[in-house]
Amino acid sequence: MSFKATARAGSNIAFIKYWGVADPHLNIPLNNSISMTLGALHTTTTVEWDVAGYLRADQIVIDGVRAEGPKAERVTRHLDFIRHLAGDRRFRARVVSRNNFPMASGIASSASAFAALTMAACTAIGLSLDRTQLSAIARRGSGSASRSIFGGYVEWERGGSDATSVARQLFPPDYWPLRDVVAVVSTNEKTVSSQNGHALALTSPLNSARVDAVYGMLQEVRNAIALRNLEHLGPLIEQDALAMHAVMMTSRPSLLYWQPGTLEVLHAVRRWREEDGLPVYFTIDAGPNVHLLCEPAFERELLRRLQTLSSVRTVMTSGPGEGAEVIDQHLF
Ligand code: PMV
Repeated sequence: MSFKATARAGSNIAFIKYWGVADPHLNIPLNNSISMTLGALHTTTTVEWDVAGYLRADQIVIDGVRAEGPKAERVTRHLDFIRHLAGDRRFRARVVSRNNFPMASGIASSASAFAALTMAACTAIGLSLDRTQLSAIARRGSGSASRSIFGGYVEWERGGSDATSVARQLFPPDYWPLRDVVAVVSTNEKTVSSQNGHALALTSPLNSARVDAVYGMLQEVRNAIALRNLEHLGPLIEQDALAMHAVMMTSRPSLLYWQPGTLEVLHAVRRWREEDGLPVYFTIDAGPNVHLLCEPAFERELLRRLQTLSSVRTVMTSGPGEGAEVIDQHLF
């Protein structure tokens, strides 16, 4: 046995958001969330356990840079849990990870990162686990990573315990080839990570209203995906994205992720929809960039129009993709 494995996992974009934790240690969320796993935006991670005992600490390299401080500690904490599961706390690990999109660009790099890390580290240490068990482990690293273990359209059940707060696939990727067009208006590293932001949700007076609203919307969102009906799904997605940002803005301290470019894109999209009938809907994660969802037939026109907006720096696109998978090509 080589104690080395590589896994690739796609990022995901949430239609119903995860914002706020009921249990910060286990990352048990306040509400179910629903997302699409992204095929074209992914993280590849190789983990090798140092069974010979050369390493005194985990060695972590992300996008060519040696990770240190809180970033490295977060990965080591996750590896500690996997070491504990495998019953061997001594092994240190070599971890090399590469994103095919810029980190901290508002694309959920922690989702694909912790999904890929979980699958690679568990496989390399010889744990044989199903996707549900991997989802529970990935959740501890980053809540949204629980969803990236699965492909296509995915729901993360809030659950009430470590074993029940897991994701499951609603529909496979080829069920609906929806496009996610990401309008990047800023590539600056965000000032408050989503990991720290979750703790603030409960301080907003709007939080409980949003969580109640989510429970009224979940079935509608599942139905809209089942019917491949973007005209029904789109307004629900926009409503929850705006509700989540209202919670962020009204927490103590207040979080304001939007930049002027964010608003330029939101207004343009609504104008294109209302005045020209372009069926495009937006959502925004914990950052300033805007994810635009449309059917493949409208993607070219959307890309053409985005080029006319002065605040859009680059655009990234993806359709739905497969869940995390073990691959043969190691990064070292
Ligand atoms: O998994 P985290 O802790 O990075 O949280 C993700 C939070 C959002 O991206 C804003 C919403 C979501 O459900 O993905």
